[in-house]
Amino acid sequence: MEKPRKKFIDVVHKAMVAANTMDRDELLFSYKGILYPLTVCSLEVFKAMESLEARSDDVILAGYPKSGTNWVGQILSDLVATFEKKTQDEENVNDEDLEEFPYLEVGDTGKYERMNKLPSRRVIFTHLLPDNLPRSIFKNKAKILLLLRNPKDVATSFYHFSNGMSVLPSYETWDDFFIAFMTEKMPWGSYFNYLSEWNKYADDENVMTITYEELKENRALGVKNIAAFFGISLTEEELQGVVERSSFQSMKENSLKTHGALGSVLFRKGGVSDWKSLFNEDQNEKMDKAFEEHIAGTKLGMKLKYDVYCKA
Ligand code: A3P
Repeated sequence: MEKPRKKFIDVVHKAMVAANTMDRDELLFSYKGILYPLTVCSLEVFKAMESLEARSDDVILAGYPKSGTNWVGQILSDLVATFEKKTQDEENVNDEDLEEFPYLEVGDTGKYERMNKLPSRRVIFTHLLPDNLPRSIFKNKAKILLLLRNPKDVATSFYHFSNGMSVLPSYETWDDFFIAFMTEKMPWGSYFNYLSEWNKYADDENVMTITYEELKENRALGVKNIAAFFGISLTEEELQGVVERSSFQSMKENSLKTHGALGSVLFRKGGVSDWKSLFNEDQNEKMDKAFEEHIAGTKLGMKLKYDVYCKA
């Protein structure tokens, strides 16, 4: 994804400019009990979304915010683009006019009708709960890659992002943010509810889960497994290209082209365990308790390897 993403940068820029003129308490709105940023989401768009006709060859990435969506999104988009480059006419590939903002829930009401006319394969990202996705995704058996990241690093990343990105309410202190994170005040809802709801789909053959941490441990293996799940057949050399282009360093270096002003906020540390710089003993205890209560015994909870990544 080294070419500039003009539409993506434009959408983000407009949202940031609009947010700069708004008060903190105007930035979010509620839909079906979940908060969303008003500068990028709307009720009308949520309603229009139901008209999306999902396809069995759609490539869908689902993840709670700050789980590494842009990273894994780069891997998926690159896998699809590399495959198309060798199998399709050059002129049909990467047509900029066909570009849509990759997050399903961000756009205008005409987006879904335009998406229905796009050629396969479409790569779609989303932070939505499964119940809030268009029904055709499940009915038409679109494949979903479900991305997970440990809650302590998600909260840490979310805190820094909220303070650097004007479309989200900022926080004066980490302690204030922590309370909001634990009391369901986050845009796109609660982390624990997100995992509990998606856990209902964890055994679905069209859903593959991957964790941020396992991808950090072995990116080459992760890329290979993702390609196999979506039936994208590439040579070792082509896969290696995807692996290299998705390193943190490479993505950060390219970020002005791919993400505009958002890049410098988004590509922050890209590591595991940065939570140790913020969490105090009491917050550790509270998070450990919440994890235990809500998701420790579930399939997704176990995938997170909480004891490895979240114990002080
Ligand atoms: P940090 O804030 O901990 O650095 P999302 O894309 O879902 O908003 O997630 C953002 C997080 O993914 C950020 O975490 C960001 O640095 C990290 N990230 C982005 N690209 C990455 C990469 N290539 N490798 C590892 N982490 C990456």
